[in-house]
Amino acid sequence: MIGRLNHVAIAVPDAAAASMLYRDALGVTVSAPIALPEHGVHVVFVELPNTRIELIEPLGENSPIAKFLGQHPQGALHHLCFEVGDIAAARDQLQRAGTRVLGEGEPKIGAHGKPVVFLNPKDCAGILIELEQA
Ligand code: CO
Repeated sequence: MIGRLNHVAIAVPDAAAASMLYRDALGVTVSAPIALPEHGVHVVFVELPNTRIELIEPLGENSPIAKFLGQHPQGALHHLCFEVGDIAAARDQLQRAGTRVLGEGEPKIGAHGKPVVFLNPKDCAGILIELEQA
């Protein structure tokens, strides 16, 4: 059902500082920090040959990653994002298998302008999983 790994999101206190590791030490192309106020994050895109890493830094008072970063002040893996062809069908199949979808269960428009859902980490071996309709 799932397609390729779209991105790995890492919550960090300072995305620009974290991006230097990838740019200077690992020699990877990184974007400038981009503000996504509607999602409560700054993001730096780290482009790898086979996928992308997104360094996400809290933006604003009500950032959805603020609490997580408080628990992991140096930064930590926040979520994995897999592509799916039909997000409603993927959600239904997961729910039939007992995997809980966060929120109301309805896809929302994610940071790339495409429909996404997030799955409960308690049902996903401890990892927050995002599904994005490719
Ligand atoms: Co994501």
